[in-house]
Amino acid sequence: MTDLSQLEADLSARVAAVQDLAALEAVRVEALGKTGSISELLKTLGRLSPDERREQGPKINGLRDAVTLAIAARKDHLETAALDARLAAERVDLSLPPPPERRGRVHPTMQVMDEMIAVFADLGFSLAEGPDIEDDFHNFTALNFPPRHPAREMHDTFWLPEDEAGQRKLLRTHTSPVQIRVMQQGQNHKLPGWIATSQSPPIRIIVPGRTYRSDSDATHTPMFHQLEGLVIDRNIHMGHLKWTLDTFISRYFETPVVETRFRPHHFPFTEPSAEMDVKCDRSGRDVKIGQGDDWLEIVGCGMVHPNVLANCGLDPDEWQGFAFGFGVDRLGTLKYGMPDLRDMFASDVRWLEHYGFSAFQAPNPATGLS
Ligand code: DAH
Repeated sequence: MTDLSQLEADLSARVAAVQDLAALEAVRVEALGKTGSISELLKTLGRLSPDERREQGPKINGLRDAVTLAIAARKDHLETAALDARLAAERVDLSLPPPPERRGRVHPTMQVMDEMIAVFADLGFSLAEGPDIEDDFHNFTALNFPPRHPAREMHDTFWLPEDEAGQRKLLRTHTSPVQIRVMQQGQNHKLPGWIATSQSPPIRIIVPGRTYRSDSDATHTPMFHQLEGLVIDRNIHMGHLKWTLDTFISRYFETPVVETRFRPHHFPFTEPSAEMDVKCDRSGRDVKIGQGDDWLEIVGCGMVHPNVLANCGLDPDEWQGFAFGFGVDRLGTLKYGMPDLRDMFASDVRWLEHYGFSAFQAPNPATGLS
């Protein structure tokens, strides 16, 4: 007869001695597997007399339960030890610097647009928008460009193919057509919601947006951005225009002193027309506004032509106003010192990382813009 207590002592010793789960499994199979030592003992119970079975049964079953428990306890211990060892080996070193993170940047054009909008909003202007695809009427005719006038050719227009109605649309060459959309009385009721609807005077709007001309060199790109301004009221004169532009230039360039001059020019939609120049220093690599003795052309402007007002259904004897058109990208190159306008649209990530802006900026005291 097998010595049960000796067998239990042997198995317990072996269970306690194993150092890994594979060795523990081997001991389990040896004792409790199909032909294991305890399983064999259990098989003998069937051949015993009822009295012997009553005596041996509980002992052998007790042995099986004790060994089963010992194996489970050892398994638990080995698993915990293995986990502890892994945790120690794989510990994250929180003192290491994080890997470099690539953050998106705000494109300089969008930054400049926001800065411009903030300054004009502060002066009481509201925002208007129009479509990039325009018709000849809004882009030229209503703005007093005579038919077959050379000014039309000077705009290097991108024309679209003729549509079903026989009309040739175009990519707007300037933001000025939105002046027409805003001033045209009783119009625009079928247009999508974001397009400016007509307003009755007094009008005080700015129009930021994309514009297109078939042109490309260091200071011209086929797509660029303009910001148009329009003020219509009674008794508006060029003094209002000069104050508005001077104030804008001083706030935008963050210089308290700006000296500007009107230089006579021609635009079909204004009379008189002017280009405004600003005093600056061009001796260094960057243009410095508010210093030096050079002049730099900065914006086209003028008093809205009576024909334009009449084309929109406004009486020129009752209403006058001024208008202006800035090149947004160019204003960005001047303020932030970019040598070539074309880089603005090259989508070079290294350039954007250098010239782009953080989306999380401290508020700018000059513009109030964050
Ligand atoms: N539309 C002109 C351009 O594209 C800019 C301009 C000049 C706009 C004078 C105006 C203005 O509103 O009054 O060059």
